[in-house]
Amino acid sequence: MTDQIRVETANRVTTVTINRPDKKNAINQAMYAAMADALIDYGTDDSIRALVITGAGDYFTSGNDLADFSTGSESDELPPVARFLDAIQTCEKPVIGAVNGPAIGVGLTMLLHCDLVYAAEPATFAAPFVGLGLVPEAASSMLLPAAVGMAVANDVFLTGRALTAEEALQFGLVARVFSAAEFKTKTQELALVVANSAPSAMKRSKELIRHNRAAVTAHMHTESQYFREQLLSPDFAESVAAKMQKRPAVFK
Ligand code: COA
Repeated sequence: MTDQIRVETANRVTTVTINRPDKKNAINQAMYAAMADALIDYGTDDSIRALVITGAGDYFTSGNDLADFSTGSESDELPPVARFLDAIQTCEKPVIGAVNGPAIGVGLTMLLHCDLVYAAEPATFAAPFVGLGLVPEAASSMLLPAAVGMAVANDVFLTGRALTAEEALQFGLVARVFSAAEFKTKTQELALVVANSAPSAMKRSKELIRHNRAAVTAHMHTESQYFREQLLSPDFAESVAAKMQKRPAVFK
């Protein structure tokens, strides 16, 4: 259990809040585990009809905790990050991303598995994996080009470009942008629209829209393998050392 993930349910809507504002909501393994549990509970509880993921404070999330990357486990048990990605990818009920502020790394890639994504004006979207010596994860190297086009996806992945909320709207990564002042009210209203819709039609519509699940799963597994290998690479070691020493990375 961790209080760095808050899970609250009201009016048939579960809200999962990434709640570690002093670290810009960086996600560690305990937090992934709590988020995975919340998604799995939601999937099996017929009384809850929508799940919202959002962030506390001024960030959605600064991504994976840089000091707590999982390199996999010796046992057959999935590491928490993999359990979370599997849970969000296979969730059969609607998931809403309410992006209150910057979404970095997994902050962006998890949104590709959300059915509705809303952003507040201060939100930004970045996936600086390559700059860290890593590769895209969560099937994002398949889903981001499909969402925003190859040119923009490559700019995001290969140069580390951060998209503004307006750009994310223009490129089709988010459905609507609200001012910071009205963001919470508007996203709660939209979650209620989802929660009050016919659950069987919602579920079957999601199944139809996400018809390429098997291909997404296969792609995600390939990425995971590359990601784990990159975690052991000199490039990743250099990027971590550079971050610690607050200097630009120099790759050999
Ligand atoms: N993992 C662990 N800690 C993180 C973090 C992350 N992903 N992102 C931010 N933090 C921590 C910082 O280390 C700092 O901790 P400290 O106060 O104990 O020193 C605190 O959050 C505040 O961050 P800081 O860098 O001082 O704030 P900032 O406004 O100058 O910059 C970011 C914010 C998010 C732009 C910057 O922290 C950053 O680039 N983080 C790394 C993002 C990243 O590469 N994520 C992984 C993607 S795969």
